Amino acid sequence: MSRNILLIGFMGVGKGALARELVRQAPALYALDTDDMIESLTNTRIKKIFATAGEPAFRALEQKTADWLAKNVQNAVISTGGGFYKVKNIRSIGTVVYLKADFQWILDRILNAPNAKKKLKKRPLFQDVDKARALYESRYEAYEEVADIVLDVTKKSTAELAKELLERLEISS
Ligand code: S3P
Repeated sequence: MSRNILLIGFMGVGKGALARELVRQAPALYALDTDDMIESLTNTRIKKIFATAGEPAFRALEQKTADWLAKNVQNAVISTGGGFYKVKNIRSIGTVVYLKADFQWILDRILNAPNAKKKLKKRPLFQDVDKARALYESRYEAYEEVADIVLDVTKKSTAELAKELLERLEISS
């Protein structure tokens, strides 16, 4: 396989966890995360970028990351920030997989995590639950529209989802 797998979906749905499981099951793949890439590039935490440079500057960094990935990367599983689906060339980076869950499931997943406080603190757009819910409502259709594959993540384990996705994409584990 030469194309990348791009995991999109709302904050806290488990994109990073699925990416790590995919590379565990398929050693030929390598995991990247767009938020981590932006933090390395700028040597600044996402939270700080939002607070000092502002959201439009962060979105521009996401577009720069998308352009670089499209040109330079293959055979990677790329987990993305929840707003990355808006980059203009997303489908040229790889197969777009949408991790689908309803808002309450996502909220419970975050709140039940052992490091829930940390998970919330690092996400500037998840400081207020009602605002986060409104953001979810404004996005969920667009996620589905841009995706090649939609994965309901609410009924299966991360290991089962990874196995299923690898089979579907015919990637050997
Ligand atoms: C964002 C999601 C975050 C991060 C930034 C903005 C969003 O990533 O990119 O805080 O717009 O949904 P996660 O989806 O990993 O939380």
